[in-house]
Amino acid sequence: MKVLTALLALAAARAQVPTTWAQAEVDTLELPAANPAYSAIHLDQAAYYRIPERVIYRTYPVYAPGREPAGYREWLQSREPEIAFDASKVKSKEQWVRAGETVFNTPTSFQAVFFTADNLRDPEFFRRTGMPIATDGTVPFARWTVRRKGEVELGSMGCNTCHTRVLAEGTVVPGAQGNNPGDRQGALLLASAATMLGQEQALARVRKFARQFQMPWLQDDCNRVTETMTIADFVKAGEEIPPGVTARANTSMILPPQIPDLIGVRQRRFLDHTGLIRQRGIGDLMRYSSLAQDLFSQDRYGSNSTAGRAGPPSARYSDPQLYSLALYLYSLQPPKNPHRSDASAVRGQAIFRREKCATCHTPPLYTNNRLIPADGFHPSAEIAGVLRAPIGVDARYTLETHKNTGYYKVPSLKGVWYRGPFGHNGSAATLEDWFDPSRIRPDYVPTGYKGYDGKTRSIPGHLFGLTLSGPEREDLIAFLNTL
Ligand code: HEC
Ligand code: HEC
Repeated sequence: MKVLTALLALAAARAQVPTTWAQAEVDTLELPAANPAYSAIHLDQAAYYRIPERVIYRTYPVYAPGREPAGYREWLQSREPEIAFDASKVKSKEQWVRAGETVFNTPTSFQAVFFTADNLRDPEFFRRTGMPIATDGTVPFARWTVRRKGEVELGSMGCNTCHTRVLAEGTVVPGAQGNNPGDRQGALLLASAATMLGQEQALARVRKFARQFQMPWLQDDCNRVTETMTIADFVKAGEEIPPGVTARANTSMILPPQIPDLIGVRQRRFLDHTGLIRQRGIGDLMRYSSLAQDLFSQDRYGSNSTAGRAGPPSARYSDPQLYSLALYLYSLQPPKNPHRSDASAVRGQAIFRREKCATCHTPPLYTNNRLIPADGFHPSAEIAGVLRAPIGVDARYTLETHKNTGYYKVPSLKGVWYRGPFGHNGSAATLEDWFDPSRIRPDYVPTGYKGYDGKTRSIPGHLFGLTLSGPEREDLIAFLNTL
């Protein structure tokens, strides 16, 4: 009888895990591309489940130089490999969430994407890149991993590499807009590869990498510029990308996006700045995570298929891994807000009302969860959730990258006090800059991301709040900082 009860409990636990790659759900996951003929076609269900599941090993914190406990390296060397995710042992809701935290921090790459193991032991590397260090001396963007005894590997490119923020005083905030300077680190890595391999070979590699961002069907694809860029141009392009912005898969090295805050993601109807992915339930967040980390490389676009793309990925997350990850993301909480509502914030709230910010940034989420067509985009189909209210922001990200839908999502304003840079491309470093009327002048130099050649001027559009007096602006920001 006891065995039967246990089996039934196990079956119930299994039953609640949604099937990630359910064909009908995958086929309707995304909005059509701005040009629907080139919407992504994903790998089919049978092929998806033939990809081996990712084995999740126990990982260990990375410490900044001089902060490692005595004997730490020797201790790591002596560790046996341990499996850290076993779905059969995960039962309570709390256990699912904790298992999801493990998945969040699990590396998906053991190669140098942003940094090498040597880099993370070199104080000069931290000085040059401004890589943040937590109060306890750890570097939460990477993990030591033991997959074979005696071999301690540096792993990264789990969610933590991009979606973890270390606040100024050293508090680690998982899920917040990340602030590891990944692309600046990548630029250093490229410069040293050019010294070691020679310019030509390093250039061939980085051009091949950059080709994944191209959209051959666009007459004037800005990503094509990488075909004529030199090593020095690529290094410059990487150095220009500030922490909080990153060129990840399916975005662009030329038009990298702001890394979104994942705290509060459960309430969002659309994912990505362009609202490409629908979030109809937890299964869609699982699909999103699998796609963004592993499956994107298998996408085909109309008849223009897989130019420059690779064979099937070596691993994917299992369905229970993705389910626990999504439950963990749903459990994330913001750090304690030091900003209290004072007289200035109360005045700011009145300005927020008067300026009709709430039409789009509607309380309590401070977003209406809607999409706004970019200037110059003429939708061919009706999409539920669209608000036709042109705001004139830079349309390129939503028209000239694989995330193209022709729309921008209205972002939530919750948590602006602990994040930045702002705007879908992170062009304004602070809220003060976002509401600085001179940002729309052609001779303005953005304080956040400036563009790959560092020459792009002005932050156009979203004119809301730009006509306020100085004190009014301060009050509005005081209010926003309380959210
Ligand atoms: C290399 C950096 C990087 C890694 C690694 C990464 N992300 Fe992201 N993530 C981004 C960027 C950049 C965006 C914004 C893309 C866009 O808007 O088009 C994003 C967007 C998202 C979004 C959409 C949120 C929203 O509100 O629009 C979710 C959800 C997300 N990531 C979850 C994850 C999870 C879960 C993992 C790990 C399995 C992960 N990401 C790994 C950089 C990264
Ligand atoms: C018509 C809809 C609309 C109205 C009205 C509006 N916003 Fe926005 N807001 C947006 C959209 C869309 C974005 C994203 C712009 C982008 O991605 O570049 C945005 C971005 C922002 C951001 C940057 C957020 C981030 O995470 O990067 C802030 C701050 C902001 N708005 C504040 C305000 C305030 C304050 C007002 C009123 C003075 C206001 N907005 C009025 C639609 C609106």
